[in-house]
Amino acid sequence: MLGAAQPDSCDDQEIGSFIMDVTSIPHRISLPVGNTPIVQLDLNVNGVERLLGLKLEAYNPCGSLKDRVAQGLIDEVADQVHREVGIIESTSGNLGVAMAAICNQRGINFNAVVDPHASPLLIERMRRLGSVVTIIDEPDPSGGYLMNRLQYVRGQLAARPGLVWTNQYESDENPKAHSLSTAPELLRQVSGSTTVFVPVSTGGTLAGFSRFAEAKNLAWRLIGVDVAGSAALGATAGPRVLSGIGASRPSYFLNLDKVESVYVHAAEAISACMWLADCAGVDVGGSSGATVAAALRVLRSDPQLCDLVCICPDGADRYLTTIYQLDWREAHGVTSVQVAKGIELLNVRYIA
Ligand SMILES: Cc1ncc(COP(=O)(O)O)c(C=O)c1O
Repeated sequence: MLGAAQPDSCDDQEIGSFIMDVTSIPHRISLPVGNTPIVQLDLNVNGVERLLGLKLEAYNPCGSLKDRVAQGLIDEVADQVHREVGIIESTSGNLGVAMAAICNQRGINFNAVVDPHASPLLIERMRRLGSVVTIIDEPDPSGGYLMNRLQYVRGQLAARPGLVWTNQYESDENPKAHSLSTAPELLRQVSGSTTVFVPVSTGGTLAGFSRFAEAKNLAWRLIGVDVAGSAALGATAGPRVLSGIGASRPSYFLNLDKVESVYVHAAEAISACMWLADCAGVDVGGSSGATVAAALRVLRSDPQLCDLVCICPDGADRYLTTIYQLDWREAHGVTSVQVAKGIELLNVRYIA
């Protein structure tokens, strides 16, 4: 009978040591970062056929766009790192997991500083990889946590001589990862005059895309997507419920006067996630939902626009206990909206 009998040797202690052994294996295999696929949705919006591409960064080895950034951030500080004292970084979770995997492989201690919005699954994964995870649960005056996370990092740097901060918020390695990998990759996958929706937190992804498009003189229209309550693109900071998108302060990397932006509410981002999952069978995270909600809004308002791509930083796996749960949505005051009402999905295709 299924699940009834367990081998005698399978006691708790053995399971524990088995798990300990396994954690070091996947990161020695070193799956390649990048070359993520695009899922193309063929849509009928107000009687006009449009193409909406989703670049799925969940296909990276640690499951997000931040896999592209982690290696450069660590390599940049490698000659200052004492392996015992280690590295500290503030993260909403995705960068933390990617850095935890690399630090685990290189025998470097890693301290990830997160907040209560971080996915429990990612916190658990960082801990399994041997990282110390510090959860900052005191909101800063804006209602977000970033300023207090950074204050904690600075306090640790003062208290622990030799500790190194990779600083994803200001290190050039962050936008560089996207101008050297994500953006050139997209150019190989799409036609020349596409509109690209990029979610913003540190602004590293959007800054990298802007640099690349400028250097190559591309006819790309880049749109930064942020959420209500985020100051990343210059608006007033306030409480937010989504993880990974938005920030309590303006991006260090972007010239905000030059950024075209669209703001969405958490409810719209989540509605887009549900629509994609239910109608297209594509499971993405909240910031990806935000880009799709923004793209649908722009599509409705501009019948000429036909070729769009959304950068989708991660998948639904890390949000199964949050945005994909009705209880969580109700507890966080997320009302039910339907961003895709009246939009017909005609076809779904994969582009490698
Ligand atoms: C979930 C999520 N949303 C949005 C982004 C974009 O972030 P940034 O502006 O820091 O490049 C990322 C980056 O990887 C992410 O993981």
